[in-house]
Amino acid sequence: MNYYVLTLFPEMIENGMHTSIIGRAIAGGCLSLETVNIRDYSLTGNGRIDDYPYGGGAGMVMQAEPICRAYEDLVQRIGKRPRVVYLTPQGRVFSQQMAEEFAREQDLIFLCGHYEGIDERVLEEIVTDHVSIGDYVLTGGELPAMVMMDAIARMVPGVLSNRESGQYESFQDGLLEYPQYSRPEEWRGKQVPPVLLSGHHGNVERWRRDQSLLRTLKNRPELLAGAELDKKDRSFLRSLLDETPTGQDGQEPDAGCGTSGTAGMGDGKGLTPEEKKILTKLLAFSEKA
Ligand code: ADE
Repeated sequence: MNYYVLTLFPEMIENGMHTSIIGRAIAGGCLSLETVNIRDYSLTGNGRIDDYPYGGGAGMVMQAEPICRAYEDLVQRIGKRPRVVYLTPQGRVFSQQMAEEFAREQDLIFLCGHYEGIDERVLEEIVTDHVSIGDYVLTGGELPAMVMMDAIARMVPGVLSNRESGQYESFQDGLLEYPQYSRPEEWRGKQVPPVLLSGHHGNVERWRRDQSLLRTLKNRPELLAGAELDKKDRSFLRSLLDETPTGQDGQEPDAGCGTSGTAGMGDGKGLTPEEKKILTKLLAFSEKA
């Protein structure tokens, strides 16, 4: 995978990307990264690349010509016209599925804007994909580009070691990941769930699946609606409807750095009335399907 980034802040991209797992993948040749400073393509000798917006309004707009020149120079050098991703809060919201799809490309160009935006005409000319990383506004496209490059890189063969590739599987089967624990067995009065110490592989797998279901129900119920549920999943979820909340006012038990109890939110207890309502609907739907 070859990444190219058109930006006013190449050092931000270089610093972020030459670190940790992605840095190792670049050094090892699984990924390549080239940043292009749009300012180098300024029309004036002084590096200016923005101007006032037609029609008035606050802020400055990045001009079409420097961006187009930077892009044309790049495609000339690499000899092809890869997809061009423009990072913008007005784009399609990035997802794991999109990361998988982009990972099938050999080359990707990311265009990072700043200020109030970019002259629409150059976007019409060169951009193939408008992508947002979420419903909030950042100061520029560099961090979103790095978020995308990181998520896409994880899908590129050789980027993750075998040990790493099993990690962070959330979303890959449509559910959030179950909680993890390591030594010691007891930390500040919190015990590791006993099933994880039992050595019974089948029970551990079932517990993990149940915790994934519970966590998804609590944090991202809309994902649960799209997940494939088997008989055992439905039976576990149904059992949650019969449990009484353990916290006050149907709230969850303390999941912070408290001093007692079994660690984590996922001990199966304490659905709020709202969560029970969602789950009841979900089960009715899933049993009909
Ligand atoms: N630029 C500014 N905010 C952004 C966002 N949320 N996603 C993508 N690009 C952006």
